[in-house]
Amino acid sequence: MADVGRPPVRTFKPRRRPLTTERAASMERLEPVWCVDEVGPTLDPVAVFGRAAPLIVDIGIGFGDTLTTMAAAEPDHDLIGCDVHTPGIASTLARIESMGLTNVRLLHGDALVFLDRVAPSSLAGIRVYFPDPWPKARHRHRRMASEANVDRFVGLLADGGTLHIATDIDDYAAQAQRVCDAHPALAGGVVDRPDWRPETRYERKGLAAGRTPIDLLYRKVEPAGHGVGTAPF
Ligand SMILES: C[S@@+](CC[C@H](N)C(=O)[O-])C[C@H]1O[C@@H](n2cnc3c(N)ncnc32)[C@H](O)[C@@H]1O
Repeated sequence: MADVGRPPVRTFKPRRRPLTTERAASMERLEPVWCVDEVGPTLDPVAVFGRAAPLIVDIGIGFGDTLTTMAAAEPDHDLIGCDVHTPGIASTLARIESMGLTNVRLLHGDALVFLDRVAPSSLAGIRVYFPDPWPKARHRHRRMASEANVDRFVGLLADGGTLHIATDIDDYAAQAQRVCDAHPALAGGVVDRPDWRPETRYERKGLAAGRTPIDLLYRKVEPAGHGVGTAPF
């Protein structure tokens, strides 16, 4: 749980860009069908998706190309993609409809608020692909891969669930690795770029600017000293 009554530290920069009339109309039609509420009672994934399947939360989906491509490739999983950015949500909604996906829902809002609706130890995975970099030292506390956020993510993962972070900011990757390595219930580290992770829109811009993506993949394990050790992968 986030601190009761205190909003989470904001990890995004508010951006206001109006939708075209056509996009606004499609969003008005699709949002009630495919979006879950930011606040409310504990989420019942079976009620939301109409089936029981491993559930993955993708935080910061941008325009949703990667989320929808992965959802199509993972029909046995359910995915909830989160973003605050309205044009990105509108574009993802249109993609969900045109691709005929049934295993995706969206959260149009702050994922860190929404996570209060997710039952502890219930998620098969949390994905954080190219989080906002917050490069200035005085903004580092806004990074998604903070110690407090990672600890929260671990609490929501089922045993064996994965936390997958990708970034092309070396210093961000180093911070994320430091935080995850120090967590007693995570095992893993930097991995070769998995070929099952589609290139994201943000990643493409970074590659064009000469940056190199770094993938960190961790699995929730029993903390050392609590029973038989578990191999990370
Ligand atoms: C740098 S962009 C990357 C988008 C996409 N993953 C990609 O790689 O193209 C980071 C995204 O995270 C979103 N974001 C940051 N903090 C968030 C939060 N707390 N809840 C939901 N979305 C968030 C931002 O709005 C932004 O769209």
